[in-house]
Formats: sequence, C-alpha cells, structure tokens
Amino acid sequence: MTTAVTIPRSGGNGERSAVAAAGRSVTKAYGAGETRVVALDTVDVDIARGKFTAIMGPSGSGKSTLMHCLAGLDTVTSGRIWVGDSEITGMKDKKLTQLRRDKIGFIFQSFNLLPTLNAAENITLPMDIAGRKVDREWFDRVVETVGLAGRLKHRPTQLSGGQQQRVAVARALAARPEIIFGDEPTGNLDSRAGAEVLGFLRRSVDDLGQTIVMVTHDPVAASYADRVLYLADGRIVDEMANPTADSVLERMKSFDGRGRTS
Ligand SMILES: Nc1ncnc2c1ncn2[C@@H]1O[C@H](COP(=O)(O)OP(=O)(O)OP(=O)(O)O)[C@@H](O)[C@H]1O
Ligand SMILES: [Mg+2]
Repeated sequence: MTTAVTIPRSGGNGERSAVAAAGRSVTKAYGAGETRVVALDTVDVDIARGKFTAIMGPSGSGKSTLMHCLAGLDTVTSGRIWVGDSEITGMKDKKLTQLRRDKIGFIFQSFNLLPTLNAAENITLPMDIAGRKVDREWFDRVVETVGLAGRLKHRPTQLSGGQQQRVAVARALAARPEIIFGDEPTGNLDSRAGAEVLGFLRRSVDDLGQTIVMVTHDPVAASYADRVLYLADGRIVDEMANPTADSVLERMKSFDGRGRTS
C-alpha cells in the first residue's frame, strides 16, 4: 500500500506553513552487501515551525544521520525531504548549497569557530561569505540575548568553552535561518555553561520565533524542548510533548539498550 505524500503547505498569501522541515519515507543506507547498514529506515517526520525539537536515542540509532539528511548535508537513499516549501531531495548541488547557506544554521559540538577572527567576525562570517548585509539591529539583539556584548572583540582562544559555544549559537541565529540544527550543541560544556546555552536556545524560540532541532543524550537538555523524538535502529519509535528531565529519564529507562520497550 502506498500512502499519499501530504506535506502541509503555506496558504499562498505569504503565510508560512507550520512545518519548517519534513521527511517522508526517508531511508539512508551506508555500504552494500554484507556491510550494508540501514541508518534510517522509512522515517516520516515533521519539524514544527517556531518550536524546539529534541532528538534522542541510543548511540548509532541514526540521530546525526537524520539531522544531516534534513539539513541537506547528506543525501538520502530513498524518500523525500523538504525545508520550508522547498523539496531538497533531487535538488541540484548549487541550489542546495545556496539553500543551506540562506535557510539553515548549524551548531556543532566542536563550535567550528575560526581562531583568527574575533567573536563578532565569527558571528557575521556566513553572511559575509554570502555577501549579505548584516542587520545591525538584529545582530545587537542576538548578541545581547546570548550575553556576549562585552566579548565581541575577543578571539575564540580568549573565550571560555561556554562563551565559544554562545558565539556558535549567535552565528547560527544572526543570519535568521528558517531552522537551526544542533548536534549535541552542549555536549562539550559543563552543566552551568550548558544551561546558559540551552536557556538561550529556548529564549530564541520563545522570543524570536526560531525553529530549533537538537540532538542530545541528556534528559536535562531535552527538557528545554517542546517535543522529544526517540530514535531506535533508524526508526522513530516514540515521541513526547512538553518533556521534563524526569519524564525523559523515565522514558529512557523503559527502553532497553537497543531502544525497544522492555
Ligand atoms: N559514513 C558512514 N558510513 C557507514 N556507516 C555509517 C556512516 N555514518 C553513520 N553510519 C552508521 O549509521 C548508523 C547511524 O549513525 P549515526 O551517526 O546517525 O548515529 P547517532 O544516533 O548519531 O549516534 P551517536 O549518538 O553515537 O552520535 C550507525 O550504525 C553508524 O555506524
Ligand atoms: Mg551522532
């Protein structure tokens, strides 16, 4: 049986659809023959616009793969992916690169800051590369919200881990992307710096209407999200709305090592 592909659309009068990114029957396999690994197995997913979504699941369950496929950083074996109203599966490289540049922000665990640039220059780098004018008012608001106003002239080596990660967060936000993806963005931070960054991500959703997707192993980090998706063996096996650290922890306990309900 085939299911019709339905993906929520904007009304055509400038109104934006409620879905910032979507995947239908997304399958991603690596290798072939005996070494073939199915990292994603016919996944259907909708990422709500203006919401904070966390992706959890055991190591190897496909979290990073799902995020990379949704962000157009990796191609799918089969299935379809949309970012906003644009289908990215089958898109030509040049157009995809442009879409990634204009519509998607990334926060990696390792920050990915350029050591020779100061904080302000790191934040505006993607826009400078794209030849886009920096909206100063927005830049100031983002910098103020992340609490970096006094650190803009500092280089990454002169900043703490938490501050560097906040620069990476500000860089992702400054370009006003449709959607921000973070792969364990607080994984390298101590709990205080992690809480600062997570609090900021939460505020950017509440106050600035940002859409965020974050992979995390940490129930406390997941509790900042509006919704948690649980992956196991390349499938979405569960989800939870309005998570708390306790409810996420309870849910994790009810899965065995491979993520199945025991
Ligand atoms: N480039 C690759 N080549 C072959 N197999 C890969 C590749 N990337 C990922 N895989 C496999 O796909 C599966 C999913 O990997 P993925 O990195 O998405 O897991 P993850 O949930 O992000 O895990 P972790 O929590 O450890 O980061 C794993 O079995 C992994 O070994
Ligand atoms: Mg991963």
